[in-house]
Amino acid sequence: MKGLILCGGYGTRLQPFTFATAKQLLPVANKPVLSYVIRALQKAGVNNIGIIVGDRHDEFKQISYKENFETKITFIIQRFPLGLAHAVETARSFIKNNDFIVALGDNIFTQKLRPAVELFYRHRADALIFLAPVKEPQRYGIAYLEDGVVKHLEEKPPFPRSNLAIMGLYIFKETIFPAIAKTRPSRRGELEITDALQELIKMGGKVIPYHYEGWWLDVGRPEDLLLANHKILELQSKSCFFKIAPSAHILNSILRGPITIGDRCLITNAVVGPYTSVGEGTKIKNACIEESVLLKNVRIKGIKRPIKNSIIGTDTMLLLSKRDNEGCCKFLLGNKSRVELDR
Ligand code: DAU
Repeated sequence: MKGLILCGGYGTRLQPFTFATAKQLLPVANKPVLSYVIRALQKAGVNNIGIIVGDRHDEFKQISYKENFETKITFIIQRFPLGLAHAVETARSFIKNNDFIVALGDNIFTQKLRPAVELFYRHRADALIFLAPVKEPQRYGIAYLEDGVVKHLEEKPPFPRSNLAIMGLYIFKETIFPAIAKTRPSRRGELEITDALQELIKMGGKVIPYHYEGWWLDVGRPEDLLLANHKILELQSKSCFFKIAPSAHILNSILRGPITIGDRCLITNAVVGPYTSVGEGTKIKNACIEESVLLKNVRIKGIKRPIKNSIIGTDTMLLLSKRDNEGCCKFLLGNKSRVELDR
């Protein structure tokens, strides 16, 4: 079975961070979201993976060297993000006539995938969809089941009649390709994989559900990135409560785990953590920070109030002013930045 991970698209809901980094490469516990997806596929026995990338393909090529995956990775370029079904169709010559598992590059999940693969083969299905109940069904592809059988699928219904979301995980046979060929663009102008699956059902294809019981998250918004960071650090804390790179220096500071600190960080007179990821090259001095994600080369110095639930982008500085600012704050904030000050 081959693997296909979808990493095209623009990631606008995660701006400003996606101006500099593709959303699938944003860090959770100091590792790109995509690396969790690759590992999950590897654990399911998939060792030939195609990654759909858009116009940011150079950024993605770096990950395979950095993470040293023992998996064959092929990058496939989707020129425009015309929808998930279009992305799958773009990978047709990579897939050939193999069965394949599709994962969205911005979803993190913790449950093993192998039982679903076994179910797919046991039922000789055309497709398997991973389903999980969600609180906001309008944000997802939704499945309607009758007596455990998939009857109807709908992408982001305004008035959902079920809360069973189609997660960003699917297993397909080559029979999905003729179904994609019959699919027409949706209201949002995309070729939806949900609609292609609905076509497959209409064509008599066997689409089976797999009820997923573990934790998963579509990391689509800044609050999702913080939640994913919290959850992954919590899970990792069972084996490692403080993950500190050997090249990091911690001086006269208190670290509260779970926490991860990247290469060449310098932390002085500070209180950091819990549930905080500090990206490589970051310097923190005379500050207190918790429940946060710091990307690379952040500088934080002399901030008296605690910093909490924050994401701070690469090369960003938060400093106590050396000049007399007459009691005023000074901001140099780029597009779509957001600052929340206490009253
Ligand atoms: O998270 C689960 C949901 O994911 C499902 O319930 C929906 O049925 C499914 O359509 C999808 O919805 P999203 O709106 O969350 O999809 P998004 O546009 O965020 O794209 C998901 C991933 O696929 C993301 O890594 C970008 C990539 N992508 C997206 C498009 C539109 C591509 O590779 N190519 C594309 O053309």
